[in-house]
Amino acid sequence: MLVYVAWRLVLLQAVGAVPQFISSSATPASSVVSSASSDTATSISTVVASASAAASAIPSSEPLPPVQPWCISEIFCVCVLLQDVNLAEVYSDPKMVVDKPMSKSSQQVLAGFSVLQHGSSVASIMEGDIVSFEDDDFTGEGQELVVVALTDFNDSPMFLQNVMDLLIQAWAQIGSGYWADLIWETNTSATCPIYPDDGDCEGTFIR
Ligand SMILES: *[C@@H]1O[C@H](CO)[C@@H](O)[C@H](O)[C@H]1NC(C)=O
Repeated sequence: MLVYVAWRLVLLQAVGAVPQFISSSATPASSVVSSASSDTATSISTVVASASAAASAIPSSEPLPPVQPWCISEIFCVCVLLQDVNLAEVYSDPKMVVDKPMSKSSQQVLAGFSVLQHGSSVASIMEGDIVSFEDDDFTGEGQELVVVALTDFNDSPMFLQNVMDLLIQAWAQIGSGYWADLIWETNTSATCPIYPDDGDCEGTFIR
């Protein structure tokens, strides 16, 4: 019977029904922060901006969508800054822009963007300008969470013995084992206030 269960599991894995691992690094890495727990190591990769044509002007702006009353940040919500950064396509995942907290205050970031808009002799903002702006004024995404090492994790909970079908029991056992990898906690010293709170940075992470 156990051989049969093992065989069925191999089949399920072969068709992708059972995940073999959970990857936390689906995006290209620029820097890797590792925190090791007792027997696992989890890495958080962060992404840096890059331009396909740094010396090219970003495409000209489209009319902005309507402002959403519940989203009032002057940087992470509907605004020219957000649109221009997205038009420069400096990240392969456009959502990355709002995942990155600032490394400065909102006022400093807005002032820096204003210089980009008006301070240069060329009429347009270049892709390379946005790369520097993102890398100088924003920091690594995902640093607000840290791995928790569970000291009392029971990887064979009693209730599994009540599951009579051995295939389902084995599947539940594997699923239960993922809990240890899914537990994270907020690192409060890495979070930024959400606009309009004053702070030395601003982010979108909701505590
Ligand atoms: C929490 O965040 C601070 C500030 O970014 C960092 O220095 C510290 O290493 C982080 N703590 C952990 C446990 O990752």
